[in-house]
Amino acid sequence: MFEIEHERPEHAADIEALLDLSFGPGRYAKAAQRLREGNKPIPELCYVAFQGEGAERRLVGSLTFWPVIIGGVPGLMLGPLAVVPAIRGQGVGINLMKRGLEDARAMGFRLVILVGDQNYYVKVGFGPVPPGRLTMPGPVDPWRLLFRELDMGAFGHAHGPITKPRA
Ligand SMILES: CC(C)(COP(=O)(O)OP(=O)(O)OC[C@H]1O[C@@H](n2cnc3c(N)ncnc32)[C@H](O)[C@@H]1OP(=O)(O)O)[C@@H](O)C(=O)NCCC(=O)NCCS
Repeated sequence: MFEIEHERPEHAADIEALLDLSFGPGRYAKAAQRLREGNKPIPELCYVAFQGEGAERRLVGSLTFWPVIIGGVPGLMLGPLAVVPAIRGQGVGINLMKRGLEDARAMGFRLVILVGDQNYYVKVGFGPVPPGRLTMPGPVDPWRLLFRELDMGAFGHAHGPITKPRA
């Protein structure tokens, strides 16, 4: 059993430790990081998962969404997503994403991208961006650039670079 909550400032140290453990120091070198630097995640779409009771209560997962412009269409980048190794495979990751994608749709967001493993993210409706259609601000394996529409037809308008929103 686990509970999903909105991220709060006091969760920051546990989230950093989870991301370091899950991705290692290389996480800052990724192309997706170029869209995070100088950008701010959307507070209503930042989540943590907790497991346990009382003194045993532990942060076991984290998910963040960032505002980005997806080939001209205002949307979101999903990630990082991480779950503590001890409870991977119990649905925490999928449930964090389902919650986030539902809330994002309710907020009026129409399109989401991410860089990740298609075999996993297909479970929450992501599919591959056709090669050459969108470009990231750095090298990315084209098979790992994925999208999910929250509003049918939104992807049809998306062509070109993925950028940060203008400040
Ligand atoms: C990827 C990650 C977030 C998944 O979280 P999780 O809570 O274990 O995932 P869930 O329990 O919700 O989903 C598990 C299912 O996804 C599958 N799965 C997990 N990672 C997968 C992957 N990389 N490729 C394909 N399937 C994957 C599992 O086999 C399982 O399938 P099943 O339901 O058919 O048994 C977690 O493994 C993690 O933190 N990994 C390290 C960080 C990372 O790689 N994050 C993603 C960055 S792109």
